[in-house]
Amino acid sequence: FDLIFNEEIDSTNDEAARQLAAGREAPFIVVATKQTKGRGRFGRVWHSEANGNLYISFAFRPQLEPARMQTFTLWMGINLCELIANFTRTTPGLKWPNDILFDGRKAGGILTEARIDSDQIRDLVFGLGLNLNSDSDSWPAALTKRAISLAEHTNTPLDINKFTAALIGRVLDAYDQFVSGAYQKTFADRWHEYDILRGKSIKLLHGSETISGTASGIDDEGSLIVKTDKGRTERFRAGEVTIEK
Ligand code: BTN
Repeated sequence: FDLIFNEEIDSTNDEAARQLAAGREAPFIVVATKQTKGRGRFGRVWHSEANGNLYISFAFRPQLEPARMQTFTLWMGINLCELIANFTRTTPGLKWPNDILFDGRKAGGILTEARIDSDQIRDLVFGLGLNLNSDSDSWPAALTKRAISLAEHTNTPLDINKFTAALIGRVLDAYDQFVSGAYQKTFADRWHEYDILRGKSIKLLHGSETISGTASGIDDEGSLIVKTDKGRTERFRAGEVTIEK
């Protein structure tokens, strides 16, 4: 596979999508020291200074049912947590569907984007922003208490090259397992090992609706199970969760 390295780029996800559209052979990987237009979910900004954090996108060309997108992001999250746990000897948490946390503070986020054609996923870009070495005090004030890096959490700087090499191996393996379907039997159980929401009172923003209830894990399709305050059990494929204090 090709590894495309940039000192500076708008967004590694955008660059991966452009290269896919131009016909580049997949898989390939785009990585950058800094991004000028790093994006998160819901069109949010992903702060992407040159501060020793990781901005990386993996480009694939699968032929999969669009319904499997949801489990893809969750499956990658599990694999990232297992890798981070190996490196840091501490256990991160997963917040459905795409956040990696330490002590309730965000350490990483996943942005999976796909082009769907004739009811099949064609171009798939798996983007990951991981706070490896940043110092939260150097971030905008609003983020200081909401974000954390692995180095801050462990009090030890992290070797970005070593980490990235291990990450690439892990993600490519996880992708193969995903495509073969081999992950499906264990995936919900493995998610629950890192799930920080299970048993918590949450609010789920789903379209224009807000649902209050208790998070109750995920099902085999990767949907969030919520026991609502109205006494029903509902499943959600998408949405944004806040934890109620
Ligand atoms: C989120 O938490 O909302 C997802 C954040 C994803 C950020 C990464 S950084 C590398 C890749 N390029 C982007 O523009 N976004 C993703």
